[in-house]
Amino acid sequence: MGVVSSIGWEGYDRLFHEINTKHKPLEDAERNLLEDRFQELLGYSDGARWGEAGGFGNETEVVVALSQPPPHPMFANLVDGLRRSLALRIFRKNKGARTLVFQKQRMELGRPVNGEDALHFQRVLAAGECHERGYILHEWIGGPTLEWCHRHRWSQTPLSGVEAQSLVRDLVQGVVVTAWREASTTSGVLWDLRDANFVVEPAGDTHRLVLVDTGNLRHLLLERDNREGQIQAALKRLKAVILRILGSQGAWEGQPRSWKRLFAESWDSSLLAEGLIDFANQVGDEQAVVDAFARLQNAMEEQGLFRPDSAALD
Ligand SMILES: Nc1ncnc2c1ncn2[C@@H]1O[C@H](COP(=O)(O)OP(=O)(O)O)[C@@H](O)[C@H]1O
Ligand SMILES: [Mg+2]
Repeated sequence: MGVVSSIGWEGYDRLFHEINTKHKPLEDAERNLLEDRFQELLGYSDGARWGEAGGFGNETEVVVALSQPPPHPMFANLVDGLRRSLALRIFRKNKGARTLVFQKQRMELGRPVNGEDALHFQRVLAAGECHERGYILHEWIGGPTLEWCHRHRWSQTPLSGVEAQSLVRDLVQGVVVTAWREASTTSGVLWDLRDANFVVEPAGDTHRLVLVDTGNLRHLLLERDNREGQIQAALKRLKAVILRILGSQGAWEGQPRSWKRLFAESWDSSLLAEGLIDFANQVGDEQAVVDAFARLQNAMEEQGLFRPDSAALD
């Protein structure tokens, strides 16, 4: 065991208290092993603190934010055209094999959505295996997850209406439409839309919603018998994520009491779901989705579902 830890584990340990999870934190011995092995692979020098451990997932043991790009010559071309800092994702033992294959492919093809302009998607830059664990080098999105924000940020200070609007726009147009554009009429779609899979990235004086669980984009490249089911699941989850964003605006004077029902009505009358289904089946074009989304935004505004700037904090 090294005297100095080369990865900081404080943020990682804190997360186990801050979010609901069935997962257990890594044992010390395993932490040290991972530090040693990945230090060697990435070429960091002894005694240097090169990463901060952050989130984890069902497949992911840990995502480590890297303080600087890996010095090892194997990763020399990684820094070309870099738009964000980097992270190392280490998969759990015997997990993530399918995701690893997909992310390698995504990196080589540059799709689905792995280009420099796809700002709402965590970009993958390298993928491999190290001592029986899969790993990926991808962008680090510097912010907490949407799940964390709901629980710890917006429960203290309600989300503003302007921010809620922009997060909903990012979700629908930035993420769903952008990803579904790459679907074929027989492929699956991006469907696993949930709070833990998005990071709220600071962007100027506002925020950008970024999909970090990009393994789910694999369905876009594969023939899927259950594509109808995936589309329905996506719509159901999309609606739920939007509803929670609206709910994070807290309560204010003049807020309609039945805002949940009013949202459901706005959603139905906008025909956004129908537009997205047609878009996925390539019988309706993207403009129709954009128009439907504008109808949803207008309806939500008219129903008073966004917190006004002037609303006092409770
Ligand atoms: N690119 C990233 N930038 C910042 N944090 C990330 C990034 N990718 C993942 N995370 C963190 O790791 C957690 C698990 O990532 P996720 O992609 O959902 O893993 P899994 O596929 O195992 O569910 C996220 O909830 C988030 O806290
Ligand atoms: Mg996940």
